[in-house]
Amino acid sequence: MTLNDIIKPVKDDLKEFSEYFKSTLNTKVPLLNLIIKYVAQRKGKQLRPVLVFLSAKICGEVNQRSYVGASLVELLHTATLIHDDVVDEASERRGLASINAKWNNKIAVLIGDFLLSKGLLAAVDNEEFEFLQAVSVAVKRMSEGELLSIDKSRGTSIDEETYFRIIRDKTASLLSSCCKIGALSATNNPAQHEALSEYGENIGIAFQIKDDMLDYTSRSVLIGKPVGNDIKEKKITLPLLYSLSKLEEKDAEKIKNRILKGKMTKGEIVELIEQVVQIGGIDYAEKIAKEYVDKAKSYLEIFPESPAKTSLLQFADFVILRTS
Ligand code: IPE
Ligand code: IPE
Ligand code: MG
Ligand code: MG
Repeated sequence: MTLNDIIKPVKDDLKEFSEYFKSTLNTKVPLLNLIIKYVAQRKGKQLRPVLVFLSAKICGEVNQRSYVGASLVELLHTATLIHDDVVDEASERRGLASINAKWNNKIAVLIGDFLLSKGLLAAVDNEEFEFLQAVSVAVKRMSEGELLSIDKSRGTSIDEETYFRIIRDKTASLLSSCCKIGALSATNNPAQHEALSEYGENIGIAFQIKDDMLDYTSRSVLIGKPVGNDIKEKKITLPLLYSLSKLEEKDAEKIKNRILKGKMTKGEIVELIEQVVQIGGIDYAEKIAKEYVDKAKSYLEIFPESPAKTSLLQFADFVILRTS
C-alpha cells in the first residue's frame, strides 16, 4: 500500500488543489515573492489536504468549501514548519536548506507569520467561521505544544505523560482539525464531525511518534530533514524516554546530562541511537503508535463502507508504515 493508492478517491481534487494553493500565495513584495517561490517549489507530502478531502468524501462530496479548508490547513502547516525550524535550529527541510539557514531567523519568523495570516484570510474571505474556529484551536494548541516542548522535553523532568501532552498539542491538534474541517465542508452531522476529529487526533499522535522514530532510524536524504536533530536539540522523545526507564538510574542520569550539555558529537549521537535501538526503544514506540492507529480506526466504525473509508483506514496504517 502506497500513498498513491490511498489518495485515489480524491486524486483529481488534489491536482486541482495544487493550482488553487499556489494562487493563494501571490504577493507583491519582491523579497517575500522570492522566498514564497522557494517554499512552493517543494510540496511535501500534502497529507493534511489529503485528510481534508478524504474526510469530506467519507461524509459526502468534496466541494469548494473543502478546497478552502485544504488551503487553510496546508498554509498553516507550512507556516509552523518554518517556525519550527527556527525553534529547532534545523538546517534542512524538504530536501532544501531551511528558510532560517538560507536567509535568517528574522525572515523565517516573518514568512511564517505571512503564511499563517494568508491561511486565516482564506477562511475569512470565504466566511468560513467554523473552519476558523477549528483551526484557531489548533494554532493555540500547537504553540502550547512547542512551548511545553522547549520548557520540558529539553529538561530532565520529561516523562511519558508530558511527552504525550506535547505531541498531542503540537501535531495531533492540526491533523484533528483537518479531518473536522473536511467533515464540516460536507455534512451538518455533528456525530460525524466528532468521529473524524477523534480519528485525526489519534492518527496525529501516531504520526508524531513515527516522526520521532524516523529522527533516530532514517537517513537525511530520505526524509529531507536532519536526522539525529532531536538529541542534538536536547529533545527527549519516546524511544529514548523508554530506554532511559530501562537503565539504572545513575546510568540514565549520565546520559541525560550528556544530552543536556548539548556538546555531543555526531559519533556520540549515533552511538546513543544504537543503544536506544538495542534496548528496544524503537520497538516500544512502534507498539504504542500502533495502539493509537487502532484507536483511530475505531472511530470510523459509524461510517458505511466506501472507497473513502477504505482510504482513511489505510491512511491510519500508512502513518506508521511510512519511511518519510
Ligand atoms: C512534519 O510534517 C512535521 C510534523 C508534524 C512531524 P510532514 O511530515 O507532514 O511534513 P511535509 O509537509 O510532508 O514536509
Ligand atoms: C514539530 O515536531 C512538528 C510541528 C508541529 C511543526 P518536529 O520538530 O519533530 O518536526 P520536524 O521533525 O522538524 O518536522
Ligand atoms: Mg523540528
Ligand atoms: Mg521530528
